Amino acid sequence: MKQRVTLHDKTFEKFITNDRIVESIETLAGRINEDYRDKPVPIFLGVLNGAFMFMGELMKHIDFNCEISFIKLASYVGTRSGGRITELIGLKDNIEGRHIIIVEDIVDTGESIDHLMRSLTGHNPATMEVATLLFKPAAYKKELPIKYTGLSIGNDFIVGYGLDYDQLGRNLGDIYVLADE
Ligand code: IMP
Ligand code: MG
Repeated sequence: MKQRVTLHDKTFEKFITNDRIVESIETLAGRINEDYRDKPVPIFLGVLNGAFMFMGELMKHIDFNCEISFIKLASYVGTRSGGRITELIGLKDNIEGRHIIIVEDIVDTGESIDHLMRSLTGHNPATMEVATLLFKPAAYKKELPIKYTGLSIGNDFIVGYGLDYDQLGRNLGDIYVLADE
């Protein structure tokens, strides 16, 4: 894999290798396996588009029967987390009384996940937890606990492994960080 990539007008450099990402997902899956193995069949609810690659790897390491579904909640333009939150689309399943594990690519300020959890609470799930591949603790402004976190990073803008810069970079197997010019 390349050390540097250019997306639109910006250059990014290799930050987290695919091996390290997969290793962190295996560890995270191990914790979920322990916690849910003896519970009624849960639903993993992936948040599109960013979580598609994380969901794919995560599911390979889940060893109990589960359902997989995706929803969409767009809120992000460019390199800064925008305050504009759009509505949740694509929730076709009845989640009432079900155990829900929300699968996110990244939790930054927490605005998106907070909004999403409030919307889903209205559908009365039995329990609801968050599994995020990446977490920016210094940027997080909410109280809600993020139970399953793969990797914690600083306040850097990253791309790859599902994450984009204006829709480019989602296909990269490694994670890249915005390079200082
Ligand atoms: P939040 O609402 O500030 O927590 O931002 C969450 C959403 O913003 C994520 O689901 C991503 O889509 C996007 N996002 C946050 N940080 C980054 C980043 O470093 N790179 C790419 N997208 C990001
Ligand atoms: Mg997202």
